[in-house]
Amino acid sequence: KKAFPAAITIFGARGDLTRRKLIPALYNLFIENHLPALFEIFCVDFQTVDEAAFKNDLLTGVNDFSRSGKAEPAKWADFSAHISYLQGDFTKKETYLELKAKIEDFEKDGKQRGNRMFYFAVAPRFIEVIAEALYTRKLCVNKTHDRLVVEKPFGTDLDTARKLNRFLAKRFSEKQIYRIDHYLGKETVQNIMAFRFANYVFEPLWNKSYIDHIQISVAEEVSVGKRGGYYETSGALRDMIQNHLLQLLCIVAMDCPGEYKAEAIRDAKTKVLKSIQPFTTPQVFKNVVRAQYTAGEVGDEARVAYRQEAQVSPESNTETFVALRMAIDTPRWDGVPFFLRTGKSMTRQSSVIVVQFKESPHKIFKDDIVPNRLIISIQPELEISLLFESKVPGLQMKLVPVEMDFTYQEAYTESLPEAYEALLLDVLQGDATLFMRADQVEAAWKVVMPILDAWKKYPAKQLQFYESGSWGPAAASNLLKPYAKEWFRLPSKETIKKL
Ligand code: BG6
Repeated sequence: KKAFPAAITIFGARGDLTRRKLIPALYNLFIENHLPALFEIFCVDFQTVDEAAFKNDLLTGVNDFSRSGKAEPAKWADFSAHISYLQGDFTKKETYLELKAKIEDFEKDGKQRGNRMFYFAVAPRFIEVIAEALYTRKLCVNKTHDRLVVEKPFGTDLDTARKLNRFLAKRFSEKQIYRIDHYLGKETVQNIMAFRFANYVFEPLWNKSYIDHIQISVAEEVSVGKRGGYYETSGALRDMIQNHLLQLLCIVAMDCPGEYKAEAIRDAKTKVLKSIQPFTTPQVFKNVVRAQYTAGEVGDEARVAYRQEAQVSPESNTETFVALRMAIDTPRWDGVPFFLRTGKSMTRQSSVIVVQFKESPHKIFKDDIVPNRLIISIQPELEISLLFESKVPGLQMKLVPVEMDFTYQEAYTESLPEAYEALLLDVLQGDATLFMRADQVEAAWKVVMPILDAWKKYPAKQLQFYESGSWGPAAASNLLKPYAKEWFRLPSKETIKKL
């Protein structure tokens, strides 16, 4: 698989994504020997920059953000010799003619037709413009070898996502289109599939008979910061729920696919999305909490209110926090609530999936029993824990909950690849398992549309506020009743009494 030469083009080469994620990921793939011997990275953007200065800027990105730490000068020199910068207007044909000449020139060295990857790290308004040019200028026409990678946001609602899908489908085959949701590339997220389908212990219990409810929580410490302009057009529902959290939900709730192959997995996930009970407008206001952060402190850092952030309207009703309750209408999940929550400027980063099992129906102990709980920590902790009851040593039959932990740190010595490393390598190898298919993206938009519509109709209705540095508004905890008192966070070791 490594043998195919690869011509990698990044549109939006001067952007943050390229510097913080894409180049550090490609660099790590390079130093770990995952890139083909013949490869070239063509970086395209509007600005005129000196190539040496451009590469130097990329190097600082690698030094600051790569998991392998500071780049070794010799390795960086080897790697960066494969990078070139092409100043070009995405809307002008000259850009594509020049790019094409460069790619063809590079491909002359290979014995076989290589793969071409075109990465769209650009504002959404350029996606169609670039895609059209790649098609008409015949840069991306080989259905086996030429691939597009499209970043989110993939549309801003169902209509725009559909239009974009149709636009791309007229020019490229679905197999050529890789829609990225970087959560799917996270090591701990990929491990959920292994955990569920390679171990038979839990799968027989993974249904309404044994599971009380499931919580999926992605709390972020970061605020909106410099992204106010984008965020005002998005909000937490579009930015996080429509994609990342619904994808986590799919992996947790899906049936076992027939095989570990892209289509089978994507079919199983799409089935989950299509089975989510649609929200009516009254349900939106009953089962969905939207909130916005006010000023506060996160750790020692003072935070301004969302409405005071740069490029944000002082009257903005954009949500920076969403919590919701949803139901999946399948025989497996009938009656089991799924609670999803995400927010910015919260106490600390904590992404967890908690599967709360039911209480044992037959009680023989006097003590209150805490039902079993499976806690899958996605980040920053990387662990899976099972909470169970145990007898305290001593002469009485006294029970306390304890935890059985699996942590990556203790179990493995390997360093974990970044999500973008896994995903970029998959694109080069033509593996779409961890990417979103057209119908999946549309099904996800369909889930959130009734919420967006209700909020649009009643822009300020029931908007809650929460202090920066808190765990979100009280309404989000009330949503859980009577299933739980609180959202489960990564359990602090102090709160779980260990033997
Ligand atoms: C992005 C969102 O897709 O995911 C950001 O646009 C968010 O708002 C980010 O902060 C979270 O990703 P991660 O990998 O840091 O959890």
